[in-house]
Amino acid sequence: MSNRDPHSYTDLSQGRVHNMDLDLKVDFENSCIIGQADFDLSEAVSGALDLDTRDLSIDGAFDSSGNDIPFELAEADSVLGSRLRVTLPEGSKKFRVNFTTSPNASALQWLEPAQTAGGKHPYLFSQCQAIHARSVIPCQDSPLSRFTFNCKMTVPSDLTVVMAAAPGEKSDANTEGMTSFSFTMPQSIPPYLFAFAVGNITAKDLGPRSTCYTEPEMMEKSAWEFAEVNQMILAAEEIFGPYLWDRFDFLVMPPSFPYGGMENPRLTFLTPTLLAGDRSLVNVLAHELAHSWTGNLVTNASINDFWLNEGFTVWAERRILENMEGLEAKSLSAAIGRHGLLQAMNSFGKGSEFTKLEINGEGSDPDEFYSLVPYEKGFLFVALLEETVGREKMDEFVKKYIDHFKFTSLTTAQFEEFLNRELPGAAEIMGAQEWIHQPDLPANAPVFASSRLEKLEGLAKGWSDGVRPDVNEAVNWTPEDWQIFLQALPKQMTGEDCSWLNDNFKLNAQGNCEILCNWLEIAVNSSFEPAYARCESFLSEVGRMKYLKPLFSALHGNENTRDLAAKVYAANSNGYHPIARIGLEKVLAG
Ligand code: BES
Ligand code: ZN
Repeated sequence: MSNRDPHSYTDLSQGRVHNMDLDLKVDFENSCIIGQADFDLSEAVSGALDLDTRDLSIDGAFDSSGNDIPFELAEADSVLGSRLRVTLPEGSKKFRVNFTTSPNASALQWLEPAQTAGGKHPYLFSQCQAIHARSVIPCQDSPLSRFTFNCKMTVPSDLTVVMAAAPGEKSDANTEGMTSFSFTMPQSIPPYLFAFAVGNITAKDLGPRSTCYTEPEMMEKSAWEFAEVNQMILAAEEIFGPYLWDRFDFLVMPPSFPYGGMENPRLTFLTPTLLAGDRSLVNVLAHELAHSWTGNLVTNASINDFWLNEGFTVWAERRILENMEGLEAKSLSAAIGRHGLLQAMNSFGKGSEFTKLEINGEGSDPDEFYSLVPYEKGFLFVALLEETVGREKMDEFVKKYIDHFKFTSLTTAQFEEFLNRELPGAAEIMGAQEWIHQPDLPANAPVFASSRLEKLEGLAKGWSDGVRPDVNEAVNWTPEDWQIFLQALPKQMTGEDCSWLNDNFKLNAQGNCEILCNWLEIAVNSSFEPAYARCESFLSEVGRMKYLKPLFSALHGNENTRDLAAKVYAANSNGYHPIARIGLEKVLAG
């Protein structure tokens, strides 16, 4: 196993932290967490041990008898943060660090009551992937270093804590009006999966292994939208083997959550933009569930191997979809993915490092090079492997892969070795070397054709020649149909054409965020003024980067709406997540 991760100061030759006992007090007034971390090392060590931190203030370091030990916080690197070096006495198996987080901690978002559904209570949540755990706790913040933990979290007594861990005791309120919630995580996790949320959060059981958590105001919609969760777990177990994390609960987040979903073990986080009211976006739940195996059990060794997490997961997500809805649904989903892939590859440019599967991300910020390439090129690679060896052998291979590497972190090279051993010859037949190590999309990428897809794309391609869909038919299209159609339309059109679409299909009033975003992008590019107000309100309602980035890019990229972009950003940026703000400021500076 590789010993170094280019995005961490972790040096496993100094020692390995295998368990943490955390005591975290949440201070909403000062937007900080006051923490104490007790570290357990796998073996007794002495001398320097390096941890990752970002914007943490270190209040003290102690040996197992409680004596002060020397520590040194290095100057911050803009990508990695600050290395914390503690010096351990001879034969140390334990040490302690006391720390306080910054109000600007990159993993944390502190919400005012007005930013929540209920409007009465504050809210706090974490988002640690890729390298933000270090802004919450000092740690060996590399997926190479897995740990178990116990965590006690103390919060104002009117709030509830949920954590990606098994819940334990809850204390009575103390004299200061604070309550402690205890959790334990018996399965080892990479640090990027450490996660919690604090707020007015309630629970509703949805199946033998699943509870839906969210604010009370969001519960009815959330529980309905994701009611199929147990069926999904069963479909996923058929592909991967038994679910090893006991519970699969999920938390529907406030709107500022910057991602669609995050596979925090035992407690997936989901954006409320999935609540379309028709279950049309539940693929994101299937995706996060699939990470329970590909990502959480078998984890990428570093961000260079991120495609191992996402590529396999998208493949599994679409297998679950095939199982639940059939082949056509899968082919439409793959087509939407391919469109996104080509767009992402295009924006990196031909020959870019970031269009390879295994990349060299050293020196770059993972949030900056985040793209659909590891997802969709990764999916196509895994799908091609399945096509090459056949479904039966593929299923056997995947189950063995999971079982062999569960609870470990692996590199692309280790994957290749395993592939060559288990399915000899397959890598050559499919040209795996080119797929993994060369940029761009190989010519033998699988294509998922379907007659429905051809029809929709055909309609869109004919747009400029005056071809129009039959209105009576198109009002009954599924959300996937609409996505395919809108994505295949010209990016810019006349005002009359925009009006025709909006008048006939009420696109400004669309409740499905995927469709709405695709439409607004076209409308903004076309300077279609009747859509500006909806674009503005949408950007004030959501914090998911998947929508913010293209819409701000479109507004900023069009001279007619550039001022509007700045105005909308100024009005809403306080409500966006720190990671989203950094990304958007780049967009608006371009
Ligand atoms: N693990 C990712 C989210 C992530 C990746 C957060 C990298 C931070 C850094 C999650 O599983 C994911 O991929 N979510 C997607 C949804 C999916 C259906 C493609 C998203 O957020 O849109
Ligand atoms: Zn994912």
